[in-house]
Amino acid sequence: MVKIGLIWSRIRNDEKMLMDAARDRGVDLVPIDDRELVLPVHEPPNELLGFDAFLERGISYYASHYVTMALEQYGFPCVNPHRVLVNCGDKALTSFLLARHGVPTPRTYLAFEEESSLRAVEAARYPAVLKPVVGSWGRLIAKAPDRETALALLEHKRTLGSVQHGVTYAQEYVEKPGRDIRAFWVGDRVVAAIYRTNDKHFITNTAQGGRASACPVTPEINEICARAAEAVGGGVLAMDLMETASGLTCHEVNHTMEFKNSVAPTGVDIPGHIIDYVVEVAKGRR
Ligand SMILES: Nc1ncnc2c1ncn2[C@@H]1O[C@H](COP(=O)(O)OP(=O)(O)OP(=O)(O)O)[C@@H](O)[C@H]1O
Ligand SMILES: [Mg+2]
Repeated sequence: MVKIGLIWSRIRNDEKMLMDAARDRGVDLVPIDDRELVLPVHEPPNELLGFDAFLERGISYYASHYVTMALEQYGFPCVNPHRVLVNCGDKALTSFLLARHGVPTPRTYLAFEEESSLRAVEAARYPAVLKPVVGSWGRLIAKAPDRETALALLEHKRTLGSVQHGVTYAQEYVEKPGRDIRAFWVGDRVVAAIYRTNDKHFITNTAQGGRASACPVTPEINEICARAAEAVGGGVLAMDLMETASGLTCHEVNHTMEFKNSVAPTGVDIPGHIIDYVVEVAKGRR
């Protein structure tokens, strides 16, 4: 029997669904709480021994960063590998990788000081979108329609934010049809996709009130996701796409996908696909 460690920091419905999918398949999926781990640098701790692979599902980016680093150093296969987590965990690095691999992605500018940050925002043009480089669920993302708002947002970031908010990530605002697309990539293809619709706000995340509905997986969606997956190193990924007049653009790739709201509208067993993929990795076939 294949034995897989499920690294978690909070058992959400997603993790429960993964446990059910593993049970259905006769896979031994053992939960390991990342808040309790002590990771020696010389050898793996006892509680990590005897596993064929690990599935990283932590909530804290920083904990996941070091857990995947340790698993890689100990020589364990991990979904996703540390490198993929690094590539996706920082929006700036993801944007660079997408751009360098020729994947359509919104124009984005980085800056680190007040005056240069305003120039970054103006390079992105008004309205510009400001995002924290590390973050999710649509939190602390803002649209600056003009210079006055941009200056206020930059001042708030500088005064109230942590070190990380000292980085300005300014992106062109993409006109989209009141929705974006979240595509679920497992191994070598998009297994499901949803539209996330919000008529009242440009942020369409379901965590911010966006509505999930089934989106057909077109060849165009599969193609841009295949290129985005290649850019960040592949694995189990969630791509965020926007529909523009000139085709799809990919603004984000997520390394720990949440799928609990997407199984019902799509009818696709996303957790089952993930478990099947991790088993392949555990068997050394991927
Ligand atoms: N440049 C943009 N132009 C227009 N809308 C945008 C832009 N960037 C982001 N959005 C909207 O805001 C939402 C959140 O942005 P993004 O996915 O970058 O952040 P996030 O907080 O990391 O989200 P997630 O929880 O998906 O990881 C997007 O799903 C999209 O609807
Ligand atoms: Mg997103």
